[in-house]
Amino acid sequence: MSSSGIHKLPSSKECNVLVFRGVRAVDPSSNLDAIVDVVVEGKTITHVGPNAAECVFGECVFEVPHAPGALLFPGLFDLHTHLREPGQEYKEDLASGLAAAAAGGFTDVCAMPNTRPVNDNRAITEMLVLKSRTIGGTRLHPIAAITVGQKGEALTEMADLKEAGAVAVSDDGYCVTRSDVMRRALEYASTFDLPVIQHCEDHALTAGAQMHEGIVSTKLGLRGWPRVAEDVIVARDVILAEYTRARYHVAHVSTAGALRILREAKSRGIRVTAEVTPHHLLLTDASLLGYNTACKVNPPLREDEDLSVLREALADGTIDCIATDHAPHSPLEKDCDLHDASPGMIGLELCVPLMLGLVRKNILPLSRFVDALTAAPAKIAGRTASRIKEGAEANLTLVDPDAHWTVTPDRLRSKSKNTPFIGQSVTGMVVMTVVGGAVAFDANEKPE
Ligand code: DOR
Ligand code: ZN
Repeated sequence: MSSSGIHKLPSSKECNVLVFRGVRAVDPSSNLDAIVDVVVEGKTITHVGPNAAECVFGECVFEVPHAPGALLFPGLFDLHTHLREPGQEYKEDLASGLAAAAAGGFTDVCAMPNTRPVNDNRAITEMLVLKSRTIGGTRLHPIAAITVGQKGEALTEMADLKEAGAVAVSDDGYCVTRSDVMRRALEYASTFDLPVIQHCEDHALTAGAQMHEGIVSTKLGLRGWPRVAEDVIVARDVILAEYTRARYHVAHVSTAGALRILREAKSRGIRVTAEVTPHHLLLTDASLLGYNTACKVNPPLREDEDLSVLREALADGTIDCIATDHAPHSPLEKDCDLHDASPGMIGLELCVPLMLGLVRKNILPLSRFVDALTAAPAKIAGRTASRIKEGAEANLTLVDPDAHWTVTPDRLRSKSKNTPFIGQSVTGMVVMTVVGGAVAFDANEKPE
């Protein structure tokens, strides 16, 4: 009771019982797509069902406000982010990156090792685990390097890295181009059941490239990154994955050719998986016609024909998951000539609205959208997938699919604002993110 005698409603962060009343809960892994009440007590989901909240009352019960038609998902899992700590905290750090993740609906993110120094050792992996726990909210799962310094030569100490908390290995940003190194990496990683995540780029074919090689690059007079630079690496790696029986994952797949190879490999039972980014599903090389550095990414934005193949492959499950490749860069790396700009765009806070756009257009079934952002990536990272069912740990993402908002720099929690979607209006808003029963993000509360 406040001093005025008026009862102050508790905030979502003060209550240990959360009630989601009459939400559409969608969890394909639990065969759930229904309007239900979901009750969270402490760390756990205790009730799921029609009118399940009726028996819940008490002092500190928080009724989560939401619009009609709100969607409740298991907490989203991002297999591919760059949080830039240690070393480039002016672009992002763990606190800002994890806050951006929570605001984007992600309860779990995997952090790529291309930091300064590279996460190729136990000390950095442990630091990331410990520091992210201190920050709280969205959980961080480190991905460690495949090779020392990401130089493509000596393998890292994967036993140590796994023990310290690494969920996968990757030299993302660079490709492991040497076949002998890749073979040994697959063999070594498989002894610890770590997936090897490859950035598929034959660097000899992309030297000096600024964008996708095609009509647009010719028009702009820029050196192009041909599709085949991705395809040849995927083809070789699939052969090595079959030979070594290791788990192989293709990061940010971008070409129709790579998908053809992956589809064939999957049909033969080879342990390959793949992810696609929202930007490769939505944008083409035409967006570089104005030399917009925000659209410079690696691999580059391709063409319409790639987009339709990527969308189909995501819908039919050939592409297992959606991953943001959240790649923060400051004005230093982006307010410059295209040639000098670093590749990458931020993605954590825009993934849900952008991907729900594909759901609305019937390009992506809602159940596939959920699976591609929850169970599928969690499985690849070897983590328990979040679920909406009684007894499960409460990791939840509440979304208002009809809310419109405009992407402006001040709305984004990420330190970096490098996205071509600035200024655009989008539909679909993350309303709340719950991690282990605690509210990590609440759109109704002003950030501190
Ligand atoms: O666009 C990209 N940005 N692709 C990568 O592979 C690396 C990333 C980064 O670290 O900025
Ligand atoms: Zn990346």
